Amino acid sequence: MTNLVLKLASLLVLTWSTLSLAHEPSPLQDFCVADFKSPVRVNGFACLDPNQVTADHFLFRGLNIPGNTSNPLGSFVNRPTVLEIPGLNTLGISTVRVDYAPRGVVPPHRHPRAAEILTVLEGTVLVGFVTSDPENRLISKVLHKGDVFVFPFGLIHFQQNVGENNAVTIAFLSSQNPGVIAIANTLFGSDPPINNDVLAKAFQVDKSIIKKLQAQFV
Ligand SMILES: *[C@@H]1O[C@H](CO)[C@@H](O)[C@H](O)[C@H]1NC(C)=O
Repeated sequence: MTNLVLKLASLLVLTWSTLSLAHEPSPLQDFCVADFKSPVRVNGFACLDPNQVTADHFLFRGLNIPGNTSNPLGSFVNRPTVLEIPGLNTLGISTVRVDYAPRGVVPPHRHPRAAEILTVLEGTVLVGFVTSDPENRLISKVLHKGDVFVFPFGLIHFQQNVGENNAVTIAFLSSQNPGVIAIANTLFGSDPPINNDVLAKAFQVDKSIIKKLQAQFV
């Protein structure tokens, strides 16, 4: 009997911890504007005194301004998180604008703390993500102006401008600080580098190919 109670209790704890890990916690007050000066360490940031909070804590300007896409990826990501908008603290949301030159790409990446919903404002954008169950199924689509697409929580996804003109997307993410793990940079640009025998085995190629890839990310 005690055993059963214990089992039930541990199941409840497990369910609860899974729930609390799946999403950012619900606010327990109107807002908790991040106080970057507070020495208190919590999950997120400590709250400013609500009487000191002003409209500027909830404001970010300039998301209408196109980013400079003259770079090897041909894209520019403007991603105001809680660090730029302190009023996002504890709310579990943030936004991102991406500009793309023709053929510009946001390379395969994942957000460890967020799902994402993306809208095409201008242009034609190929998007996709790869599932974990079933393993490695590609879910992909060519989007046009006004189309909306969802990238599920934590899965590897990518975007590319496949039109002839510039493209613009705006997206919303379910975290105040979604994080970005760019797959190529993580694997080939870590500091210090991952042992190239590990990578050569993982990719089933010669070490010289791994060295070439690593040279792209130093
Ligand atoms: C865009 O970036 C490129 C490369 O860094 C630079 O040469 C160019 O002046 C920039 N253009 C603008 C409009 O800032």
